[in-house]
Amino acid sequence: MKLVGAILAGAVALSFSATALAQSPIVIKFSHVVAEATPKGQGALKFKEAAERLLPGKVQVQVFPSSQLFGDAKEMEAVLLGDVQFIAPSLSKFDRYTKKVQLFDLPFLFDDIASVDRFQQSPAGKALLDTMVGKGIKGLGYWHNGMKQLSTNKDKLVRPDDAKGLKFRIQASDVLEAQFRALGANPQKMAFAEVYQALQTGVVDGQENTWSNIYSQKFHEVQKTIAQTNHGVIDYMVITNAKWWDGLPADIRKGLQQAMDEATAHSNKLAEELNQRDRKRIEEAGKAKIQVLSKDDVAAWRKAMEPVWKKFEADIGNDLIQAALKSNQ
Ligand code: LMR
Repeated sequence: MKLVGAILAGAVALSFSATALAQSPIVIKFSHVVAEATPKGQGALKFKEAAERLLPGKVQVQVFPSSQLFGDAKEMEAVLLGDVQFIAPSLSKFDRYTKKVQLFDLPFLFDDIASVDRFQQSPAGKALLDTMVGKGIKGLGYWHNGMKQLSTNKDKLVRPDDAKGLKFRIQASDVLEAQFRALGANPQKMAFAEVYQALQTGVVDGQENTWSNIYSQKFHEVQKTIAQTNHGVIDYMVITNAKWWDGLPADIRKGLQQAMDEATAHSNKLAEELNQRDRKRIEEAGKAKIQVLSKDDVAAWRKAMEPVWKKFEADIGNDLIQAALKSNQ
């Protein structure tokens, strides 16, 4: 009798924990490297809100900003290992996984963020989301940040020659390395979380980034000049582990995709506004001077960076470059 009782109690406990397990939400981690008050930071928070609203009790989304969980060096591997489910690296950080996405780093390829958006929504742009599936990475969508500006700790930054001989922090991208070499400058690949200190201590003289990243990281407090070059773009691809994604129950996958679409629309709508807000804040702070360039100055930067295109044309593919150029109207 005792034995039967024990077996019964065990069975009840087992079935109870199985039910609890079936009912406990799937925990989804979203890690990124920027501050919350940026387009990506806001997109990630919107994704959490939408996913938990659309899939009540079924998912719990935990967002980790500012490299708190994983920084640039580890986040891609973490996705592949299943330690985090969503990340949104800058498009400059994929060249170990696909050469095609290097397209976005070509200097002066896109006229503005509207052109970038047109390309991302085109068939050629959408196709890039699937170029890393063979490596286990699935792209779910693009999020905007904005156009890049160039900053240094020098008083003058007007013509390309002003960058000669200076050390610049770059993202882990061979195209960006070539871009600074074309200027006669010294690029140094470095994780985002380390940039402020490197600028402050003079390990590097300058960097390139969007207004929202410059302001939220306080780069303007440790730089003297920010030239409004708009010479490139910092946008993101939101990615997940392809195997994990395909293995989700269909209703969960559908809900998460819908939440992702809402987050994408939200973040993309906010991006330009946040960048303009932060440009103004930098101006008002009065620490770094914003250098507005003439058309002639911009043309000189464009010419100086031109050799980069030839160097990467074969890797990226001329057809893709032409498709991107068509987005400039
Ligand atoms: C960087 O400079 O590393 C940034 O692009 C980081 C980011 O995710 O915006």
